[in-house]
Amino acid sequence: MTAEAGLPDTLRDLPVWTPNPVELADLELVLAGVYRPLTGFLGSFDTATVTAGGRLADGTPWPVPVTLTVPKEMTGHERVVLQDPEGVPLAVLAVAEAWQDPVTQAWRLAGPLEALRSPAHGPFHSLRRRPDELAPAGGPVLAVATRDVLHRKQLGQLRQVAERLGAKVLVLPLLGGEHDDSLVRALLGVRKELPDGTRIVPVPLPARDDQEHGDQERDDQERDVRLRAHVAAAYGATHLLAEAELEGTPIPLVVPEPWAYDADVEVWRPVARIEPDHVQAELTAERLAELLDAGEPVPDWFTPPAVAAELALARPPKRSRGITVFFTGLSGSGKSTVARGLSDALVERGGRTVTLLDGDVVRRMLSAGLTFSRADRDLNIRRIGFVAAEITRHGGTAVCAPIAPYAATRAEVRRMVSAVGDFILVHVATPLEECERRDRKGLYAKARAGQIPEFTGISDPYEVPDDADLTLDTSRMTPDEAVGEVLALLVDGGWVRPE
Ligand code: ADX
Repeated sequence: MTAEAGLPDTLRDLPVWTPNPVELADLELVLAGVYRPLTGFLGSFDTATVTAGGRLADGTPWPVPVTLTVPKEMTGHERVVLQDPEGVPLAVLAVAEAWQDPVTQAWRLAGPLEALRSPAHGPFHSLRRRPDELAPAGGPVLAVATRDVLHRKQLGQLRQVAERLGAKVLVLPLLGGEHDDSLVRALLGVRKELPDGTRIVPVPLPARDDQEHGDQERDDQERDVRLRAHVAAAYGATHLLAEAELEGTPIPLVVPEPWAYDADVEVWRPVARIEPDHVQAELTAERLAELLDAGEPVPDWFTPPAVAAELALARPPKRSRGITVFFTGLSGSGKSTVARGLSDALVERGGRTVTLLDGDVVRRMLSAGLTFSRADRDLNIRRIGFVAAEITRHGGTAVCAPIAPYAATRAEVRRMVSAVGDFILVHVATPLEECERRDRKGLYAKARAGQIPEFTGISDPYEVPDDADLTLDTSRMTPDEAVGEVLALLVDGGWVRPE
């Protein structure tokens, strides 16, 4: 692929590449000067010293490897145009080094970036600012850089520390999750609980998964806090609110003293000022999740109503949360029959909108023209997964029934759907002999006769799931019983109301 119209002539013949979301966020922060002294993606030497000791090769502290992974075919060029997923060219990378990661063997391009245009920003673009677009605050600035909403406790601690430092407050919602919009609204919604003049500036900083560099989770967290300190410093902060002390950050971290809820006077305050038997136990993350799942109100003592409302939007009650029920199994195993029965039963009960994505029907519509090669089967399942995830995101119910023979592709669908709702895998484990005995479509006979190549179970693999939420064998039960088992699972889990 080469760059198209809309580019200066000198760039039109350059190869084009679309970085992944973390790389695009890095690109934006490099170009906005937030990652100073970085001017582009790191090469092999800098990456090695950053990974080993948190410093660039010249000794400058830098916490995370900022790298760009490309397919090997992209490595033979002097300059590459980097574009966003919609195909808008954002920057030109002057390639200083093409290198292969010694651990993952992935190919990487390194070199300085030259901006072509500013990235298109989605919701809340009016709040997005580069550091050079913010008027200097003058005096101390306490930043909180967060992927989570702030509850009454954190709000109190933030006020206390800001007052002690005589600092203005800068809230940096870190974007890159599924619920960025809820996060920003929840933070805007508690503005009146924060000191006058508090600024809220969303920054793209998705959580990084650098496990490929062999890091421990704890190490990852520490690097993440260091990176937040770099970002906050670039935005003019003089201090960063943090949960634990850490040496050598570009601006000092401030750890607030412990706070708790005083049940006697009904306020949050420093634990040191509360009579020990008046300290009310914190609402744990698990309890909070339970309340949201059940659609029960999150108590006002714990979080302001504006935050509670956003939490409920981001994690709707199970009864109205989107869900995908994904059946997998051999041809003739009974997937379609059970999926159809489930879909009918859900429609009869009401309360949920259902879309049935049956294997054969999908193959006539969404996946018309695809073969049964591994690549085409994977594409077929990804298409089903994409549609199911959209249905789930919008609170619907997707019932899917393809063979889906490969574990890795099923796992991909589980990931896509779980990011926006719930996912249930049902293995219809009817034995091959029974599927072949039924042979309703006469396909097994043809496959045995060699007339259909790559036939699942005969001449093509089926990877038995080890992560099924339910396993059914339709040679031992009626279709109604099978549907009943899936329904029972959905009722027990709280997605469907009992009859
Ligand atoms: S998948 O592997 O990509 O998940 P899918 O569920 O869409 O398969 O399609 C399976 C259906 O296609 C089977 O029920 C059968 O009717 C038909 N079919 C035709 N050729 C094959 C084949 N080579 N392997 C499996 N199923 C096939």
